[in-house]
This record gives sequence, structure tokens and C-alpha cells, in this order.
Amino acid sequence: MPASTHNDTPWWKKTTVYQIYPRSFKDSNGDGIGDLPGIISKLDYLQELGVETIWFSPIFSSPQADHGYDVSDFRSIAPEYGTMSDCEKLIQESHNREMYVVFDMVLNHTSEQHPWFKESRSSRSSSKRDWYIWRDGRKSGGKKPPNNWKALIGGSGWHYDDHTDQWYWAQFLPFQPDLNFRNPEVKEEMFDIVRFWLDKGVDGYRLDIINAIFEDESLQNNPFTWRYFPSEDYSTSFFQNRIYTMNHPDTFAFVKELRSVVDEYTDPERILVGEIAASLEVLRRYYGDTTAGKKTNGLHLTFLFQSLNAKLDENTFRGLLSNFEQYFPEPLTPTWVFSNHDQMRRITKLGNDIRKAKLNATLQLTVRGVPFIYYGEEIGMLNHRLPLKTAQDPIAQRYKWIPQTLVNLLTGSGSLSLNRDDCRTPMQWDSSSNAGFCSEGLDPWLPLSPGYETANVDSEETNPDSLLSCYKGLLQLRRETPALHSGSLFLLLPSPFGRGHLSFQRIYDEQVVQVWLNFSSKPLQISEISENPRLLFSTLKNTNPLTASQLHLEPYQGVVIGIRP
Ligand code: GLC
Ligand code: CA
Repeated sequence: MPASTHNDTPWWKKTTVYQIYPRSFKDSNGDGIGDLPGIISKLDYLQELGVETIWFSPIFSSPQADHGYDVSDFRSIAPEYGTMSDCEKLIQESHNREMYVVFDMVLNHTSEQHPWFKESRSSRSSSKRDWYIWRDGRKSGGKKPPNNWKALIGGSGWHYDDHTDQWYWAQFLPFQPDLNFRNPEVKEEMFDIVRFWLDKGVDGYRLDIINAIFEDESLQNNPFTWRYFPSEDYSTSFFQNRIYTMNHPDTFAFVKELRSVVDEYTDPERILVGEIAASLEVLRRYYGDTTAGKKTNGLHLTFLFQSLNAKLDENTFRGLLSNFEQYFPEPLTPTWVFSNHDQMRRITKLGNDIRKAKLNATLQLTVRGVPFIYYGEEIGMLNHRLPLKTAQDPIAQRYKWIPQTLVNLLTGSGSLSLNRDDCRTPMQWDSSSNAGFCSEGLDPWLPLSPGYETANVDSEETNPDSLLSCYKGLLQLRRETPALHSGSLFLLLPSPFGRGHLSFQRIYDEQVVQVWLNFSSKPLQISEISENPRLLFSTLKNTNPLTASQLHLEPYQGVVIGIRP
């Protein structure tokens, strides 16, 4: 395989992203909370792992009521995470290792502790009053919310402030008031903040709930729907279809404006990744128009959360792959995400089965699109069911009243987690009592997940058959193989030799690579796969799946095969 990675594909289309939840990665100063110097001390690990971009969940000053997604100053670093110079060093040291840096930007709302909101709520005539969305209530004396709009997490999104006898709007938690982007001052200020970090060398942004920026100005009520539980398409839930509060036409226009701000920066090109829970049709629209040459004018990427709960089977992934290819053909790029800081960890959905985790990783790192790996996913960190009563997650705190036995019953099947703490436990570096996240004898901010004694970087690094070694092998192969990071994708028809498998080709210029995934618990024998197949990767290390042109796959085995160099 030619090791050259030289081609015209923009860096961000062929990159792999690793998400760090800063609070949980590595504590350097003994307070049990992860921090920037801790992350810097682990950059060599990330470089060796082979990821090319790091996305940091928010590190700006914040009361940490939603662990950084409630910002109180967008231009400074939370003191528990470090200083501005730590941050500059983090960017520099990442770049020194040829890794790109993506920050998490929360444009939609601020903390209620932000000086802007404090000023805004101080009086109806405040100069910052219009920076947020204030309205009179309905009914006798305005004691009912202005309309029926619900927050994304359920309950009215309007909150009464008796000091000025008006209601403010919050898409998410009550302490996260929405900014009013119809006010030009707000837009200008937020765009300046975007430039502030780009000037410091940040290579792009992950945009928090970016489809929630604008709401209907005339406050029309959202219609009723029968759907109660949220799905990956957040726009319907809690018996409400959010047609007037999510994906507003002005939001689509807004992302194009934001794009032109980041396009002021070149070399390298800076990118925008939207956190948007929506249908593929809606997601497609956020990429903008593709008429201007080979470039889009909206978001570079959006998360396609359709993969989060995908069952690990042939039909599901055949469906996802063909849909992603259909909706996001070149020059668009899909994304592949299976875990993040809001979701139950993927491996737990796969029954904590390492074979399945390797198979899942093989798919994620060989398809067309940008893979997002969540810290700890590469070592098989398990979701840790933590009690609601002691939850740090502000959403889970709202469910405190539910008896734990009922929670266990509701979430017992393993696909639901009511507590986001469960997936935010400390990174597992070694088998010592605090897993190397913080010094022994300290209390980490969240308890460790079970199994850290074996699922940790230290023990997996030296084991060629570990999940970590599997990720490293795949990441290296992807980096070095243009067909994998830049090629087109063709689904192959199911072979007549067995059920439950999926295969596809990746093609770039002359290079052809074939991926075979056995989703079944039975072995699979395929004859005549090609003339001179070469094994490039296998999830199983102790057997050779190829004999002449025959392929033999064990249950849940995945392989990558070179067909043409
Ligand atoms: C996004 C974040 C989540 C946060 C919320 C409010 O969904 O991923 O962690 O709580 O936005 O900012
Ligand atoms: Ca610390």
C-alpha cells in the first residue's frame, strides 16, 4: 500500500476526531478534576493512538452547573481547568504533534451567571435587556408563560423572573437563558468571540445545539404530537413538534453567515461541526449550497446521530450506509459517531462484548466520513450506572425523585441512561486505585467505572490483541490508505455464501480496498473474493482469514483487504 497521504482532500474531510471531556481526562493538580495541564501531559498518548483532531468539550469560565455548557465568560478559561497560557500551550503542543484542535462553542445560550444576563435581568430598560428573549406572560397578570413552547429537556422553556415581571426563554435548562441573535449587537459580539479563538489558532468549532438559535418571532404555539420520548430527532418529544423553535429558516441563514466568519481564516481551513439532532433531510440543509465549485457554504460537518443507537447488524448498517451516501454525496461528508458525553457508551449497548466493539470500530474507521471517537471508547470503558440521587448531571438531578428500583427497571434493557454522569467517569490510564486519572487517595469528581483494572491504557498498550491495539491498527491504516480516508464507497451485494455480513469497497484512483464485517455469531466462508487479496487488517490477531482467494471469518470478525495497491 503506498504510504503517501498526499492528495487534494481537505484535512478535515480525511481526519479522525477524538472527543475529550476535560473534566474527566487527567487531573494534574490533585483536586480530582481533569485539567488542561493534565491533557497536555497526555498528548503523546493521543498522537500515538493516531487520532488527528481533538475536540474539547467547553473549557471556558463557567459555574459548571452543566459542566461548561453554561458559559459565564467566553474569553477566559475556567480556573479549575487552567489558565489562558495553559490553553495557548495546549493549542501549540497539539499543533506541534500535527493534531488539529476543535473547541466547543455554545452560541445558543449563556449561563444565568454571565454578566450579560445579570445585567439583562436587572431591569426592563437595561442596555442588555434585548440580548436575551424576554416576553410578557399570558392570562391574569401575566402569570402564565407566553406560549406553549417546551424546552428540549421537557417542561416549559419559559421562566418567570419576578424582579421585572417577565419571562425569559431557554431551550435547554432554566439556568441557560437563550441569547437573542436578532439583536445585531449579540451577533457581532458572538462572531468576535468566534474570531478570538480562531486568532489563537483553534482549527474549528463543534457547535452546541446550533439548530436552536432562532425561534418564531410571533411566538406561534408548537403543534401537538403523540411522541413523548426524544429520539435522535429531537424536534419532536414531550408531545410537542418543535416547528417554531427548532430549525428555523433564520438559523439556516445564520450558519452561512457564521461560515463566512470562519472562512476569513485560511491555512489551515477552519471548520464547523454542528450538533444537530434531526432527520437526514434537515441535516443536509445545514451543509448549505454546493453550487459554488466543490465547496459548501454552510456547516462543514454535522453529527449524524442516526448511528448512535444503530443495532449492530447487517440490515441496519446497510441502511445507514446507503442513506448517508445518498444524502451526503461528495462534496458533502457524513460523520460517524457512536458515543459522546450525553449518551450511554456504545460498548454497553453492545453487551460489553469486545469482539463487537472491535467490529464496530472497524466499520467506523473504514467507512466514508469523519469518525468521532469519545475518550475511553478505544479502551472499552464501560458505562457506569450511577445513582440519580447523587447525580452531578443537572438533567439527572431533575429525575432524583424517581425511585432507583424504577430507574433500574426502566433502563434495565441497557439502551437508556437517565444520568449523563454514567458516560463521564474518569479516563482509565492504569490499574492503580484512581486509574491514574488522579493521585491515589483522592476523590475523583465522579467514581471510576467498573473494570478499570483491566480496561486501561497501561495494560492494553502492551497487548497486541486489545481493543486499544485494534483502534491503533485501524487508525494507522486509515491514515496511510488514501482509499480509506479519501476514497468513494460502494456497498457490495450480500454474498451468497452466508448471512449477516456486510462488505463494501473503498476506491481512490487505482487503489481498491475491501472491508468485510461479519455481524453474525456464526463463522462465514467466502470463496473467490478477488485475485490477489492482501490482508491489511483483521480484528483477530491469531488466525489468517485468507487462504488463496478464500476468506474465512469468525463470528463478529472484521477484516480489511487490499485488492489493488
Ligand atoms: C448539548 C450538549 C450537552 C449540553 C446541552 C446544553 O446537547 O452536548 O451536554 O447539556 O447542549 O448546552
Ligand atoms: Ca485538576
